[in-house]
Amino acid sequence: DKGEFKHFMLKEIYEQPDVMAQVLEGRIASGHVLEQAFGVDAKRVFDQVKQVQIVACGTSYHAGMVAKYWFEELIGLPCMVEVASEFRYRSVVIREGTLLITLSQSGETADTLAALRDVKSQILASLSICNVPGSSLVRESDLCLMTNAGPEIGVASTKAFTSQLVALLLTCLVIGRRHGLSSEQEKQIVTDLQNLPTLTRAILDLDEPVKAMAEAFAEKHHALFLGRGALYPIALEGALKLKEISYIHAEGYPAGELKHGPLALVDKDMPVVTVAPNNEMLDKLKANLQEVRARGGELFVFAGCEQTLKSEEGMQVIALPACSKLMEPIVYTLPLQLLSYHVAVLKGTDVDQPRNLAKSVTVE
Ligand code: M6R
Repeated sequence: DKGEFKHFMLKEIYEQPDVMAQVLEGRIASGHVLEQAFGVDAKRVFDQVKQVQIVACGTSYHAGMVAKYWFEELIGLPCMVEVASEFRYRSVVIREGTLLITLSQSGETADTLAALRDVKSQILASLSICNVPGSSLVRESDLCLMTNAGPEIGVASTKAFTSQLVALLLTCLVIGRRHGLSSEQEKQIVTDLQNLPTLTRAILDLDEPVKAMAEAFAEKHHALFLGRGALYPIALEGALKLKEISYIHAEGYPAGELKHGPLALVDKDMPVVTVAPNNEMLDKLKANLQEVRARGGELFVFAGCEQTLKSEEGMQVIALPACSKLMEPIVYTLPLQLLSYHVAVLKGTDVDQPRNLAKSVTVE
């Protein structure tokens, strides 16, 4: 039931503040993550993890890409990420102590399941982060952490993605204890996670300005999405959402790659969406934005605060509430979901059932 909402996608976008609380439900005690939430064998497995290999498809793959930044930056644990359809068909080298993490909303994605089955005998253990209890991936994995986002009906994945990000951070914390992450750091991050319902609610309050921004896209045929660091996968996800439901051709790029090709595409007909939180990459990112402006590209920026980036001729800025660096990928996802939603509504496409796509890809 869509309730008061016009589409399931919109309803699911708006469920995210509650979902952010649901993923944590029963998994936290005294400011720490309970490792038994991952399964009875969790302690033995986490004690032995030397690196992480993440395998997933589509939006779930983008969540995995964000986690790579977290695993390597926060706890210094090597982390590789690959799309399942490539991983399963090449000769992969699996090192000793590898925890395979599969990410999937449905738990039935054929390639992801096949990837798990293929390397089962070579890995330390498998952990599935999944939204559907009792699904194939959950049944076939050694450990699992349910994302508890509730059924996702819209083909475009929204709440499943942000709940995967929270689940991945929880995973990072329990493994991180063995790799120098202090109890204080863990507590701080848990507090940040507990603030997500409030923070994401504040983001959803920005719906009106995002909707107004969407009008600039309705007549466009192409769009670029830029981000740096852990926001690069968010740019990819923003582009995927737009192409999936509005059929506008969109590409996500790490902003530093502009000069290496995509800048050639930039002109007044190429809107450039940028996720630009107030972090140490902001100055670099601003330089990239200048490059776009100099070629007449129109900028649509989601920024950390009004002081750092202001709307001006050729650049519309929407400022988001301040948040800690680790929360940025989660927080900046929401306005991009809203943007693609409103563009699709303006274009009159079938938001919940985009052409040619299925919710669950159970055949390769
Ligand atoms: O169920 P899964 O998370 O394994 O599905 C993976 C992809 O098919 C899925 O994320 C797809 O990319 C979505 N339609 C994106 O919105």
